[in-house]
Amino acid sequence: MDPATPPRGGHGPSRPTDRAPEAEALKVFLETMGCQMNRLDSELVLARLCAAGHEIVPTPKTADVVLYNTCSVRDHAEGKVLSRLGADARRKRAGRKLIVGVLGCMAQRLGESLRRQCPQVDVVCGPGQLHRLDALLTAASAGEPAVALDPDRREKPMGAETFDALDLARDPRAEPSSAQAYVRVMKGCDKFCTYCIVPFVRGPERSRDPARIAEEVRRLLDAGRSEITLLGQTVNSYRWRAGEQTVRFSDLLERLAELPGLRRLRFVTSHPIDFGDDILQAVAALPTVCEYLHLPAQSGSDAVLKRMNRRYRRQDYDDLLDRARDIVPAVVLAGDFIVGFPGESEADHQASADLIRRSGYKNSFVFKYSPRPGTAAARMADDVPAAVKKRRNNELLAVQEEVGLAHHRQYVGDVMEVLVAGPSPRSKKQANPPSPESTQLTARTRRDHIVLFDGPERLGGQYVRVRITGATSLGMLGELTPADSDPAAVGREQTAS
Ligand code: SAH
Ligand code: SF4
Ligand code: F3S
Repeated sequence: MDPATPPRGGHGPSRPTDRAPEAEALKVFLETMGCQMNRLDSELVLARLCAAGHEIVPTPKTADVVLYNTCSVRDHAEGKVLSRLGADARRKRAGRKLIVGVLGCMAQRLGESLRRQCPQVDVVCGPGQLHRLDALLTAASAGEPAVALDPDRREKPMGAETFDALDLARDPRAEPSSAQAYVRVMKGCDKFCTYCIVPFVRGPERSRDPARIAEEVRRLLDAGRSEITLLGQTVNSYRWRAGEQTVRFSDLLERLAELPGLRRLRFVTSHPIDFGDDILQAVAALPTVCEYLHLPAQSGSDAVLKRMNRRYRRQDYDDLLDRARDIVPAVVLAGDFIVGFPGESEADHQASADLIRRSGYKNSFVFKYSPRPGTAAARMADDVPAAVKKRRNNELLAVQEEVGLAHHRQYVGDVMEVLVAGPSPRSKKQANPPSPESTQLTARTRRDHIVLFDGPERLGGQYVRVRITGATSLGMLGELTPADSDPAAVGREQTAS
């Protein structure tokens, strides 16, 4: 599709499609596992299937097609899909006519063998082939084989068309109530951390043409979105070369930051080795770029970092946090850690706990090491017993709880601008739904803090000011303030002091 073509229509059947006109309209249920990249893929796939005339249904009960957009990063994520597939096999054995599709990273990792292992699976579609899904569903409906995988990363890399096929065909008016949108700026990864499956399932690192990125962001802004999150496996490694010219990640931020309608520009996830001062200076200088960095450390121990092939030492990471605080004083940080990596000693583990204590992280994601077939670490002995992994996981989470609470407490009394997502998970679960005029809402500050407060449901998708009244390890509690109250304090948040 011509990337410059303006979007035509909403989710009606008027969009261009490669389906035969008589092809059957199907009821499709899609469940998404994994990271933001998968969430974006799912959003784009659903929009595309709608445009092709299918109906999206909220549960598998009434569906003709059940799809899973899968994650392979830990064994647990794959186990969840296998248990769903078990239930689908039982439905099919009971005579239900159902097309079952596995999409994304696990589809790519297991390929054809997935259909041998799970004969109830009709469609297998790798993450770079999702633009072909409708044709695969048509084939599966006709009982034909429906497998589309990305080429092996050593073969010729996929071209720009594959890169943009899904992204630029998106309808920016989908989900009109949401102010938030993800935009992909790069794909794949060349870092080969020894524990990680991502470089094998998402292919080599490729950056996207900045003109195409700007085009997509502009369309989303025109359609009313105002908070854009740039996505990449290592988003800060972004680099686009055209002739003599090189566009670095900091240049890309500069190019996007002043587009009309943009209020917040974020990016995840960053790799510590590609974090130059130019990026920190861009974060400090560009008012729409949020002072929030997700900078996975994985471990605080040099010995473990080396075996993980993270390419930095503990000191380099500490220096990066110092540089970040120096150049962007208001910066808010989040981390990722793996516990129980092969050979991790008690002292290594304490080094990770120490890093969290000194980091001031808003939050950290802590994962128990899970060997992934085909990775370099899978050839090392998985020698930390499960019970020790569990204890270390709990210990790091306990340290993070203290650090998170102290982090959030510093904002009590401030007035902050937040973007309201909608009713909080607690209010959604309540047996007696609260009044739409006063329900617990969940919102985010520009630096990605979670704030819970009571207010009318109609505030979903809007920016409002709240006074922070309390703190927890994971976020803050607040109360709605009149828009014009305490302008000085709001000014403080907007300039992110
Ligand atoms: N691209 C991102 C994150 C990729 S996966 C980055 O490089 O930071 C998200 C997180 O999952 C990683 O940061 C890591 O903490 C965790 N992870 C990856 N592989 C894992 C494994 N084999 N076992 C446990 N955790 C893993
Ligand atoms: Fe995986 Fe490392 Fe690449 Fe992140 S940087 S996706 S952890 S290989
Ligand atoms: Fe999982 Fe694939 Fe994302 S392995 S973390 S869904 S890139």
